[in-house]
Amino acid sequence: MQQKTTTLRTQFEQEVYDGLTTFPKYLSSKYFYDVIGDKLFQDIMAMPEYYLTDCEFDILQKHKQAIGNVFYADQKAFSMFELGAGDGKKTKILLQHFLDSKIEFDYRPIDISQNALDQLASAISKELPAVTINTLQGTYFDTLADIGSDTTRKKVILFLGSNIGNLLHLQAIDFLKQLRAVINSDDLIFMGFDQKKNPQTILDAYNDKTGITEAFNKNILTRINTELGGNFDLDKFLHWEVYDPETGTAKSYLVSKELQKVSIEALELQLEFRPWETIHTEISQKYNDEVVQWLANEAGLTVHAQFSDDEDYYKNYIFKKDIR
Ligand code: AVJ
Repeated sequence: MQQKTTTLRTQFEQEVYDGLTTFPKYLSSKYFYDVIGDKLFQDIMAMPEYYLTDCEFDILQKHKQAIGNVFYADQKAFSMFELGAGDGKKTKILLQHFLDSKIEFDYRPIDISQNALDQLASAISKELPAVTINTLQGTYFDTLADIGSDTTRKKVILFLGSNIGNLLHLQAIDFLKQLRAVINSDDLIFMGFDQKKNPQTILDAYNDKTGITEAFNKNILTRINTELGGNFDLDKFLHWEVYDPETGTAKSYLVSKELQKVSIEALELQLEFRPWETIHTEISQKYNDEVVQWLANEAGLTVHAQFSDDEDYYKNYIFKKDIR
């Protein structure tokens, strides 16, 4: 392995360098998402095996009345922020319901992708023109400050899709603490948490036979190839998924099928993979009530309400600031 001498520039370059020059190798799942990765994730959400999206859609549809009642219990107009709004497909259920029930609100979707926000804003203005929408581009962490400094209305913060599952528990607690820091005692956090269930159901969701999840996982190698001048041969890696029913952690790997050398020009890096050497790329944590309760507690939040589908595959929780 050759040591890099020139200055490392972007965060992507730095993280790829760090992850591939340590043992065991790892890369962050946040780099799955570019134009190709966004499309692959939309394809994943449309797969029958990927139950998460359908479950959350059903929960919102079935409980929109009750959810609206909690959000608007004090009849106070609120700003609904959404972290990682994407195409807003599920959120539109709530938006439509709020309009129908004359609930006073405005919608503030946040996404890292300006392209996603532009598409969302134009879809909302066409389909739900009565909704007041203000988009905000940036990462969750960048935009938290903007959320906090906005003191005009009561806040409801949405974080859907079990996106929190990409975080280790301690990171999740830290993230929840940061959310807590930008809300007041009236404000609410509405979050999706995928639940523990038959391990086979979980494995199937992350290991579809059509190979969409495999392509999604390998997109991180494609990005290194195109953006950093890498020469990964995607066919020489396997997509591998494991699920530990004890901890509730699903983990994704890319596994080298043979001894191989890879070079990454922008990092001036020569890598060697031993046969069956792994790159860990993602965790997708599964939860139960006890664990969600514990995370909330550790972060100084309380569980105010919860909603689930008929099979308890998935749950949405409402948190409030714990003011003990
Ligand atoms: C978008 C992070 C919720 O972990 O279930 C889907 C991403 N990875 N298939 C998840 C994903 C593999 C997804 N999240």
